[in-house]
Amino acid sequence: MTKPNVESPTLEVFEQALQNVRAVAIETPVLHSHYLSALTGQEIFLKAENLQRTGAYKLRGAYNRMSKLTAAERKKGVVAASAGNHAQGVALAAKKLGIKATIFMPVGASLPKFQATQNYGAQVVLEGAVFAETLKAAQEYAAKKGAIFIPPYDHLDVIAGQGTVGLEVVQQVPDVKTILVAIGGGGLAAGVAVAAKLAAAKQGRKIQVIGVQSENAASYVPSLKKGTPTQIHTSPTIADGIAVSKPGAIPFALIAKHLDKVVTVNDNQIATAIVALLERSKLVVEPAGAVAVAALMTGKVKPRGTTVAVLSGGNIDPLLLQKVIGHGLEAAERYTTVTVMLPDRPGQLVKTADAIAKAHGNVVEVLHTRHGKGLDISEVELQMSVETMGHEHRQRVFEALNAAGLKVKK
Ligand SMILES: Cc1ncc(COP(=O)(O)O)c(C=O)c1O
Repeated sequence: MTKPNVESPTLEVFEQALQNVRAVAIETPVLHSHYLSALTGQEIFLKAENLQRTGAYKLRGAYNRMSKLTAAERKKGVVAASAGNHAQGVALAAKKLGIKATIFMPVGASLPKFQATQNYGAQVVLEGAVFAETLKAAQEYAAKKGAIFIPPYDHLDVIAGQGTVGLEVVQQVPDVKTILVAIGGGGLAAGVAVAAKLAAAKQGRKIQVIGVQSENAASYVPSLKKGTPTQIHTSPTIADGIAVSKPGAIPFALIAKHLDKVVTVNDNQIATAIVALLERSKLVVEPAGAVAVAALMTGKVKPRGTTVAVLSGGNIDPLLLQKVIGHGLEAAERYTTVTVMLPDRPGQLVKTADAIAKAHGNVVEVLHTRHGKGLDISEVELQMSVETMGHEHRQRVFEALNAAGLKVKK
């Protein structure tokens, strides 16, 4: 299979899209990050689409596409399939345009996303255990009812809408040299790469745009190598918003031509980025929205000049956020779980706690097990969760345990 021959949209297409989406989408702020600037040695800014209406940039593409429907098409209603952000974007756009929307979501969709979509007035149908089944059900329903299917990324009007993020970045950060953006199906990255480069070229400047994928769903890496959208086997990732197993045909063609490179980050790195954004920038960002920052924090992307990381969404279920914070703190070595094998004698618990206290570690949880697989009859397994202040401090806690003669399980 060869690449589809897609003509790149012009700057006027994106400017028109920006005028369209202004009816619903705000110009999200660009915030300077002192923390990331100090970490990378370059000026780093955050494009806060997590503060967009509906909590993600997706509204832009959905609205741009739907605003172009004829009166006759609008009467037929729209249908979409999504586990989250596209659902909310289509639902709000439909409400604004007075169109009936039917949104298919997978059975396990998170409650906040389900409720938000319903609250925008869409009819929500829960169908399919996996997304492919949900998508199939939505497409069949659209065909049966004659309704208009709104794709999440594989349409030029959707891509033009998402590209308005890139136009805003170039206006808001006139000396931007690099833009980092998440990739799932590729609509956002394709739109931003084409739009931002055209807008910068108009000012006589050249910029680079870099895409970031989750390591467990990095379909663009083999696809770009082979020169064609390639189906991959994805593994679970916390970045559900970008867990797409095959690039969209149209975004792929544009990305192959206009994106400078693609890097990947893993779940631990994403969790660490979410915690840093919460703690340092006071921003709530969902996993898919934090991959650009993860790429900067891990050094996967070494920024050259003023850099903007797009925070593409902020819709994170509080239950997942709770898990991610625990995970992110563990990954940043701010939280350490130590397991010590002790003889079953009085005073051992105190001895362990004392060693940790001497290293200034704060114990937050204790699990004391006397029976279990692999334990000798006279042995006890003690697990302690300890607040630590990073790598060095964690090492000091382990050194203190070893110095006290305790048997630390590796
Ligand atoms: C928060 C967030 N970021 C990034 C993406 C990736 O978008 P695309 O499929 O256009 O590459 C999505 C997709 O839904 C998303 O929800």
